[in-house]
Amino acid sequence: MFPTVRMRRLRKDNLRGILREVEVTKEDLIVPVFVDENIRKPVEINSMPSYFRVPLEQVTQEIGECLEMGLRAFILFGIPSYKDETGSSAYDENGVIQKAVRKIKKEYEDAIIITDVCLCEYTSHGHCGVVEGEKILNDKTLEIIARVALSHAEAGADIVAPSCMMDGMVKAIRTMLDSEGFEDVPIMSYSAKYASNFYSPFREAADSGFSFGDRKTYQMDFHNSDEALREIELDIKEGADIVMVKPALAYLDVIRRVKESFNVPVAAYNVSGEYSMVKAADKMGWLDGKAITYEILTAIKRAGADLIITYHAKEMTDFLK
Ligand code: PBG
Repeated sequence: MFPTVRMRRLRKDNLRGILREVEVTKEDLIVPVFVDENIRKPVEINSMPSYFRVPLEQVTQEIGECLEMGLRAFILFGIPSYKDETGSSAYDENGVIQKAVRKIKKEYEDAIIITDVCLCEYTSHGHCGVVEGEKILNDKTLEIIARVALSHAEAGADIVAPSCMMDGMVKAIRTMLDSEGFEDVPIMSYSAKYASNFYSPFREAADSGFSFGDRKTYQMDFHNSDEALREIELDIKEGADIVMVKPALAYLDVIRRVKESFNVPVAAYNVSGEYSMVKAADKMGWLDGKAITYEILTAIKRAGADLIITYHAKEMTDFLK
């Protein structure tokens, strides 16, 4: 009790540094990269200031720059040259992601390349699965999603990351990869992915908006967190090596529950809308964007995330160890 106990004793300028419980480092961060095969020059994304779609021809250069800055892990999203009902450009061996992975791996073997495994950027209707009428078909989608993951593994991806929120997606991918000799390729599952309003800038970035309905029949209802634990548990049983909670900032409670309930690496996705909000406030001069970002990333880590996917990665490197 006071005056014996004085919390301020350990808050002196010279002591705080050695007493930090968590510290975000560059090794914790995964950089999202939008690879577009339809452009020749980088194109800035309107709703994500200072973030660009990268032409396929320049993707290796982009990865090289990040590696120089000390960032080692990347998650790739593709903007393909064609779209159809079933998203077949997603598993085309000469698709944008397959080509990008081969190019990057040829030049930078050590870069950690994670691929987003989904259909929404590749389907004409923009949904994450095969559609019949206005229904998103689960089991039909699994067959395709497994092929997509296999094509990424064949191209040389280090980790595949299914994000379509179909039931059984991890099992379908694990079975496919194992039967084709890729039993060593890990799966990072977007296990607890919420139907969130925070994704809208991404949909502009990846050209993946949907033409009807919403994603609420497959992505989670944000009123729930028991359900997230169930999703995570199932994915672990199906063979997920890393599980993810998405979004991050408004879902720190979920990250914490997952971390306390399971003994697997947890990734958190600091999504597009979270990035855009900080950028907007910074631009208005209302907040110090970098300071706020550092605080947000620290909070995500403190909540229990082992890895953070964030659009802020590059701009934060000079802030981080
Ligand atoms: C694809 C996918 C989405 C995001 C990541 N993968 C969009 C969606 O589900 O609509 C969102 C990422 C972000 O907002 O930064 N299924």
